[in-house]
This record gives sequence, C-alpha cells and structure tokens, in this order.
Amino acid sequence: MIAGMALDGSIQANRVRAYFAQIASRYDLANHLLSCGVDVLWRLRAAEVVQSWQPSAILDLATGSGDLARTLKRACPKALLIGADFCEPMLQVARSKRLPNLVVADALQLPFPNASFDAVTVAFGLRNMASWTGALVEIQRVLTPGGHLLVLDFGMPEPPLLGLYRFYLHHILPSLASLLTGERSAYTYLADSIESFPNGTHMCSRLEAIGFQHPTYEALLGGVAALYTARKA
Ligand SMILES: C[S@@+](CC[C@H](N)C(=O)[O-])C[C@H]1O[C@@H](n2cnc3c(N)ncnc32)[C@H](O)[C@@H]1O
Repeated sequence: MIAGMALDGSIQANRVRAYFAQIASRYDLANHLLSCGVDVLWRLRAAEVVQSWQPSAILDLATGSGDLARTLKRACPKALLIGADFCEPMLQVARSKRLPNLVVADALQLPFPNASFDAVTVAFGLRNMASWTGALVEIQRVLTPGGHLLVLDFGMPEPPLLGLYRFYLHHILPSLASLLTGERSAYTYLADSIESFPNGTHMCSRLEAIGFQHPTYEALLGGVAALYTARKA
C-alpha cells in the first residue's frame, strides 16, 4: 500500500515536472495574459507581507520561472534568498532573470538542514505537489522556530462569481492556454487541481492540523487567489 502510494506520488511528480518543462519558455507570458496582469499584483502583495517580517533567509519553494523570487529580492534586498524547484527548464527561465541561488530540489525532500530559513514562500506551487501535506511538513523542518510560511495560490470565489469562474476555468482557460502554449492538458490539469485544493478556512485548519500556528487567509480578487500565512511553533 505504501509502495503503491509512493509510486502514485512519483508518477504525479513526473507528470507535473513534464508539464512545466513543456510550457517553461511560455509560462510567464501565459500567466500575464491569462490573468490580465493581475498575477503581478498578487506577487507584489505577497512580497509586501514577507517584507513586514524582516526575514534574513528566505526559501522560495517551487520558484519556477522566478517571478516571486525576483519580487522578493526587490522587497528584501538584504535577505539571503534561495529559489528551489524540481523542474530544470523552469529554473533556466529564472536564471535568465539574473536570480542567484537557484537550486534543483524536490519540495518533499529538501536538501537543507533543519531550521535554515526564517521565511518560506510557495506561490502557485503547493497545489501541484504530489503530497502538499508532505511538503508542508518538510517546510516546517527547514523553518526556524517562529519562522513564517506564506502560500499564494488559486482559490474558488464565492457565488455569484463562482459559476462564471468555473466556466472560465474549465472551458475558456484551457482553450486560450493551448493557443498560447500549445499545451492544453497542463491547463485542464490546472482547473482540476484548483477545484481539489483546500480553500480559505479549510486550508487554515489543515495548516493547524500539521502544526503551524496563527494561520491567516486573505482573499485576492474575490477569492480567485488566496494568500495564506502561518508560523512554525
Ligand atoms: C505554477 S509554477 C509556479 C512558479 C512560481 N512560483 C510562480 O509564482 O510563478 C509551479 C512550480 O512548482 C514546481 N513544483 C511542483 N512540484 C514540485 C516539487 N515537488 N518540488 C519542487 N518544485 C515543484 C513546478 O516545477 C513549477 O515550476
């Protein structure tokens, strides 16, 4: 049973890595066009929150093409910033943005000692992981006591926006994305993964169940995206 679960996990991880490898060169463009540029504002808001913590060492997990890492670098110029991702083609895009300290690493098995960072950020990444609870446990391990977690991800808005958003997510987005990236299945997967990811107070309860303290939730654009924070005990 455990071996079967591990196999499922590694199949999903390989699939996710392959999706992002395929779309890496067009990922930023697709993001900005499909969100009408709002994703830039969401990352700015995330960086503002992290800045308020005055961290000295930040791990940006699932850093991908490095857009959040770049925003964090500007907001916290004195902090050591490390970006980690398990998809090398995505990191190549991040490298082209002159981001230092980019590491190929799986969030479920981070190559860092315990208590290495006082802030860990994950933007639009946790949802894609084979075990997001496993990733959160690993994040706790590398956080210092009292260290901060920030998760930025998509959510589901409340009615009446919900119906319209679902239609966009399942019908319009995959078609637009396949025009932009030539890859439809990655965006069909995106819609399904958003639907099955815990949202709002549900995510806060999950964070508490894993051992994080003081979880907070901020809805962005009526809940289309969500910003969560929590602290390691
Ligand atoms: C949607 S992108 C997000 C990139 C970036 N954080 C942003 O805000 O645009 C998701 C990233 O998560 C990475 N990822 C998914 N599962 C991962 C894992 N287990 N370990 C490390 N990176 C992972 C993918 O390779 C991909 O680059």
